[in-house]
Amino acid sequence: MERTFIMIKPDGVERKLLGEIISRIEKKGFRIIRAKLFQPDRELVEEHYIEHKDKPFFEEIVEYITRGSVMAMEVEGDSAIEMMRNMIGATDPKKALPGTIRGDFAYSISENIIHGSDSKESAKRELKLWFG
Ligand code: CDP
Ligand code: MG
Repeated sequence: MERTFIMIKPDGVERKLLGEIISRIEKKGFRIIRAKLFQPDRELVEEHYIEHKDKPFFEEIVEYITRGSVMAMEVEGDSAIEMMRNMIGATDPKKALPGTIRGDFAYSISENIIHGSDSKESAKRELKLWFG
């Protein structure tokens, strides 16, 4: 069993995709251990995306993620980290395959609906950051 950090971003909440995404996670057989719907502050989001601090899109992504509510979740299942990344799909919507969450719903490389941890180390760090 593995646990990963999943966040439905503000555009996912605004577009009323919470139910659709939670349903996909549950139907896959994964378990949502913890969840909270709230508007994260700048400090939390800057820390979350610290690896992108020097990228040109850093300020834009901090503005985007802090503009409204997100749904932060701890998701458990076998190989949950890799399998959730597969279900989420590629960052670039042109490369995200149909059947993935981004492939089915995202049309922007910045506003791409959902985040999922990319490794065991990231999952551990992000779960601690968002849930303590
Ligand atoms: O989210 P993922 O791990 O697939 O992608 P990332 O490369 O770690 O980038 C993190 C987030 O930054 C993306 O999900 C986008 O929301 C945003 N981003 C962006 O706005 N412009 C880019 N060229 C790349 C990423
Ligand atoms: Mg990433």
